[in-house]
Amino acid sequence: MADGGDLLRARFGMDLPGTEVPDVIAPLLDRRVVRRYTDQLVPDSLLDALLAAAQSAPAKSDLQQYSVVVMRDAARIKQIADWIGTMDWIATAPVFLVWCGDMRRGQRLCDMHDMPHANNNMDTFLNTAVDCSLAMAQFMAAAEAVGLGTCPISYVRSHIERVSPLLGLPSGVYPVAGLSLGWPVFRRPVSMRLPPSVVVHRERYDDSALPDDIAAYDERRRAREPVAASGLKNNDVYPSRDGVGWSENVARQLSVPERFGFGAYLKTKGFDLA
Ligand SMILES: Cc1cc2nc3c(=O)[nH]c(=O)nc-3n(C[C@H](O)[C@H](O)[C@H](O)COP(=O)(O)O)c2cc1C
Repeated sequence: MADGGDLLRARFGMDLPGTEVPDVIAPLLDRRVVRRYTDQLVPDSLLDALLAAAQSAPAKSDLQQYSVVVMRDAARIKQIADWIGTMDWIATAPVFLVWCGDMRRGQRLCDMHDMPHANNNMDTFLNTAVDCSLAMAQFMAAAEAVGLGTCPISYVRSHIERVSPLLGLPSGVYPVAGLSLGWPVFRRPVSMRLPPSVVVHRERYDDSALPDDIAAYDERRRAREPVAASGLKNNDVYPSRDGVGWSENVARQLSVPERFGFGAYLKTKGFDLA
């Protein structure tokens, strides 16, 4: 039986007094991404069960505005890994899924019923992304429950102009994230999260303690797993140096535009984003 206190200390680097972890949710606290897979296959019958679990996620107004492309062809998975260039382990995954927001199906349904689709707007874009993310999250939880490992891959969006045609994504459909799937070679250490005091607000939003809380979090993370030189963001813009904490590394990443052409790309794929 898992010890809830140990799981919380691993997850947060500190005790959370008064928090009791029921056994059935202990595996969720212990989860982590897996970035290397064995040669063992994932049977179709199991994959289909994981996809059924994903489709059991809630969806806004029951509209179910997402799709998923399942890839099993090793050469095509490697093609995506090669385009990304820095994540060769993706090619070790026997299955790669691309989770997509999908406005097209709703547009086709309107068409089939001789009605206009009058919701090509930012709210629909967000709903497609949320429906998709919830399904992917449920897929990941189901996969981990049976001992499989997964890792979401936002980098498919960095090569969207090549990934979309590879998958035949039509107008109104865009990748939210890739997801590698396979049997783990090894489990990475648990990644430490921000303390609940930073993320969880009671009754009203209040981030007045943020600077102190973040300084303490940076310290806890530094003590367990200092940011490696290879993990420093935007080394071409900021000097590489020892002792960079999590929050400074976040700032290094967020201070440089990432995928700034995404909105323009979505407009070429039929999204008005109004
Ligand atoms: C939407 C999303 C996109 C991600 N994209 C990538 C990616 O492109 N490459 C990668 O190696 N990890 C990716 N990750 C995994 C995160 O880096 C990982 O979840 C984070 O470092 C925390 O580690 P943990 O999930 O093991 O707790 C992504 C995660 C999410 C939720």
